[in-house]
Amino acid sequence: MKILLFILIVCMISLLHAQKFEGLALTPPMGWNTWNTFAHEIDEQLIRESADAIVSSGMKDAGYIYINLDDCWHGKRDSLGFIHPDPEHFPSGMKALGDYIHSLDLKFGIYSDAGWQTCGSRPGSRGYEYQDAMQYAKWGVDYLKYDWCNTEGLNAEGAYLTMRNALYAAGRPIVFSLCEWGNNKPWDWGKDIGHLWRTTGDITNCFDCVVDHGTWKSLGIMYILDMQEGLRIHAGPDHWNDPDMMEVGNGMSVAEDRAHFSMWCMLAAPLIAGNDVRNMTRETIEILTDREVIAVDQDRLGIQGFKHSSNDSLEIWYKPLVDDSWAVCFLNRSKEKKKINYKWKSQIINDDFSSRRINFKENTYYIRNLWTKEDLASTNKTLKNEVPPHDVLLVKLVPVN
Ligand code: GLA
Repeated sequence: MKILLFILIVCMISLLHAQKFEGLALTPPMGWNTWNTFAHEIDEQLIRESADAIVSSGMKDAGYIYINLDDCWHGKRDSLGFIHPDPEHFPSGMKALGDYIHSLDLKFGIYSDAGWQTCGSRPGSRGYEYQDAMQYAKWGVDYLKYDWCNTEGLNAEGAYLTMRNALYAAGRPIVFSLCEWGNNKPWDWGKDIGHLWRTTGDITNCFDCVVDHGTWKSLGIMYILDMQEGLRIHAGPDHWNDPDMMEVGNGMSVAEDRAHFSMWCMLAAPLIAGNDVRNMTRETIEILTDREVIAVDQDRLGIQGFKHSSNDSLEIWYKPLVDDSWAVCFLNRSKEKKKINYKWKSQIINDDFSSRRINFKENTYYIRNLWTKEDLASTNKTLKNEVPPHDVLLVKLVPVN
């Protein structure tokens, strides 16, 4: 009786002190996830080979460190309620897989769902949150993506809070990725619960389309981009808007992949690759590992960019960076090439959210084309350029002192 009382008191104290593990995602998380390419068909061989490829392709050195299993790794719960992996596809078990990933100096991510079943009809965490969190901690998990299927009747904030508390009680620092699709505005309540939250439904590998699956729709890159409107004020270090895992290398044109990647960087989005990293073209590797472009995403100020203007399918986005620098992205959404004749000197940029301003009449900037690595004429001159269809011109502005 006394022991039970003691356990109860310990549980209550730990609940009162529960919080999110702070500081795990001071810049947007970078890694790879199985879902966009492999969906339900995953096994330990695929994960090991992909982790190896992340290292050999240079992606690890470029910053991609999380190896994330998505849905369908699950087997059954045992008689005590603990979850185990599917023994056929993960015969060595999750601890061994985590150890392998860690031996490459990478981090191990896993997936579950706040409902009674995952979207892929595997066991969800509802009612087992504390046991699942304990199990993940034992396996050495570093990142949990937590989905929102089969949650009828649940309050989203409460359900994610329960898992946050369970993770905290289990004692292993784990990045907590809320995959609630933006249905209940997680940007309003997610900051103290998780490190990132999905803002939309699922992405698909097309530049500008919506695919209707009957009961749900998947969204092309431009469609998702438009849904980020107004959300930047909610994001910052350790709490990011997540416009979903990337489709770079999954069948769009090189220009479209480049535009997609550039815009995810302008959005300070988590950079979670979703392609088959064991079989990448040179162009895909070049896009995913471009240090100067990644630096826009990983800038330590963590200020999400914003659309400054839109004219005839040419959008101009600005993102404040450290040291009074800026990234500027000219995005051509149309199927025609677009000429740029950009008179910096007639622009005034005023970002109330970051309290950053530019008056190009008073301040001059050097301009670097981040993809081609060319230094262009300064902002004292009109920028003359051309952007191919579905492509970008991405530049960095550095103040001339
Ligand atoms: C949902 C999520 C996806 C993926 C699948 C897995 O659709 O939004 O990212 O995790 O579930 O079933």
